[in-house]
Amino acid sequence: MSLFITFEGPEGAGKSTQARLLYERLQAMDYPVILTREPGGTRISEMIRRIVMDLRHTEMAPTTETLLFSAARAQLVSELIRPYLNTGGIVLCDRYADSTFAHQGYGLGRDLDELQAITTVATGGLMPDLTFYLDLPVDDGLYRKQVAKGRVEQSSPGSTFTTPPEWNRLDARDLAYHQRVAAGFAELMRRDPDRWRQLTAEQPVSALAEQIAQEVEPMLKRVTRLGADA
Ligand SMILES: Nc1ncnc2c1ncn2[C@@H]1O[C@H](COP(=O)(O)OP(=O)(O)OP(=O)(O)O)[C@@H](O)[C@H]1O
Ligand SMILES: [Mg+2]
Repeated sequence: MSLFITFEGPEGAGKSTQARLLYERLQAMDYPVILTREPGGTRISEMIRRIVMDLRHTEMAPTTETLLFSAARAQLVSELIRPYLNTGGIVLCDRYADSTFAHQGYGLGRDLDELQAITTVATGGLMPDLTFYLDLPVDDGLYRKQVAKGRVEQSSPGSTFTTPPEWNRLDARDLAYHQRVAAGFAELMRRDPDRWRQLTAEQPVSALAEQIAQEVEPMLKRVTRLGADA
C-alpha cells in the first residue's frame, strides 16, 4: 500500500509551509516519504512552471494555461509520483489536479467535463487518498504573500520556509477571480467529502501542523516504515 496526500487552498494559505512540516515529521518517524509540488517537481515540470507562472506572459490563452499545467502534471505523475507510490511510499504534493478544477474551471470558466478528460489523460486517473484544504479568506492569503515578498531579507535563519512565496501570474489576478477559485474548492469538497479535510489556516503554523499530523496518523498503517520487516 501507499499514501498520496495533497495540499490545496487559496494563495498564501500555508500549503507549502505545512507540506514541508509534514514531510519533516514523517521523515523523522522513518516513513518513506517524498515532497513535491505543482506545477513542478521534475526537471521538465519545473521548466513548464517557469513558463506558466511568468508575470510577463499576459497573452497566455486559457487553453494554453490548462494544457501546460496538465503537461507538467503528466510528467510529475509518470516520472515521480506513480513510481514512488508503487514502492509503497508516501507522496506529499503541494497542489494537484484539484487546483486545475478550481483555477482553470471555476476561476477561468473552462468546461469542467473537458478539464476532467484532460486531467484523466495527464494523471491516468490517479487521485490523492487525502487532500487538505487550508482555509483562509482570499485577501488574507494574498496579504500574507505580499508581506512575505517585502520581507524576504528578514527571514530568520533556521526557518523551515526554504523559499519565500513567489508572486506569480495567477496570484496577480483580481480578487473576484480568487473568490471564484475559493467557491470552486468549496464545490469540489462538497462533491467528494471523504477525501477532503478542511482546516482553518487562521491559526499558528504549529497548531495547524498538529491538526494535520492527527488527520494523517490513522492512514499511516498503510505504509511500512524504513528498516521495518515487511
Ligand atoms: N499559519 C500561518 N499564520 C501566519 N502566516 C503564515 C501561516 N502559514 C504560513 N504563513 C506565511 O504566509 C506566507 C505564505 O505561506 P506559504 O508559502 O506556505 O503559503 P502557500 O499556500 O504555499 O502559498 P502559495 O499559494 O504561494 O503557494 C509565508 O510568508 C508564510 O510564512
Ligand atoms: Mg506554496
